[in-house]
Amino acid sequence: MTVEAALRRLMGEVPEFLPGHVWLAGAGPGDVGHLTLHAIAGLAQADVVLHDALVSPAVLALARPEAELVPAGKRCGRPSSEQTSISAALVAEARAARRVLRLKGGDPFVFGRGGEEVLALAEAGIPFRVIPGMTAGVAGLAAAMIPATMRGINQAIIFATGHGADSQHASLNWEAMASLGQPIVLYMGAKRIGTIARRLMAGGMEPTLPAALILDATRPEQSVMVTDLGHIAETVGDGDEDSPALIVIGRIVTVRARIADLVDGLRPDLRPDLRPERARAR
Ligand SMILES: C[S@@+](CC[C@H](N)C(=O)[O-])C[C@H]1O[C@@H](n2cnc3c(N)ncnc32)[C@H](O)[C@@H]1O
Repeated sequence: MTVEAALRRLMGEVPEFLPGHVWLAGAGPGDVGHLTLHAIAGLAQADVVLHDALVSPAVLALARPEAELVPAGKRCGRPSSEQTSISAALVAEARAARRVLRLKGGDPFVFGRGGEEVLALAEAGIPFRVIPGMTAGVAGLAAAMIPATMRGINQAIIFATGHGADSQHASLNWEAMASLGQPIVLYMGAKRIGTIARRLMAGGMEPTLPAALILDATRPEQSVMVTDLGHIAETVGDGDEDSPALIVIGRIVTVRARIADLVDGLRPDLRPDLRPERARAR
């Protein structure tokens, strides 16, 4: 079967987008290849697409030409007033009998306020579907050639938000998390990495523990910087603060260099893409 024929057959199986319905979909971290068929079907049928800032232009380009594209939502730390007006807009658009696609970066239910939006739709009696997407913490690690789990290294992985790390009331117990000895993947951690790294070290993580900063994961401009916990704040400070950033702390980061060493001798066309690295030798 050709790729076109396979896609045609699969597209025949996705549900029809009915007027007055809302589809809350994840667009993945940027690469269009990480869209699901259901998200593509949403883009191809929606009358209006309310999208987060992190949804890449390459993804939005797949919307129907007649569709209205509405930017909705700041990158992170969205104030609740703004969130309320996004939920109200979803309800109003659906009540106007439009097919409403709410498109979020990554997965809509991972640090994306998708839960609040679905609750608002359910409360208003609007029919909706939730379409999962690849979350940045999973797709971004794979794109950076860092296995999320590696036998002999970790038995768990922690996805945490750095948002609120400076707050006395909302902050996570970073010292307790350090004591678990499992890798941590930080979303929205760049601004507070100094505090977080200090508290992880106070909880027992060694300053020499490997760490990586992944900017613009899965996008053409992706870059990966490898360092250690003691220097991660400095590395983040050197990075582009406008790029979405994931921070990975733990020994799984070392696997990237092991893969790079092994594939060095491979034919260039067989090598995985490990180019965008600025490694700090430690
Ligand atoms: C508001 S959260 C949304 C997370 C999204 N719902 C998900 O599942 O990936 C935004 C944060 O996700 C991370 N992120 C999203 N896309 C990314 C990308 N392409 N590269 C690196 N980090 C990304 C960054 O930490 C960013 O600050």
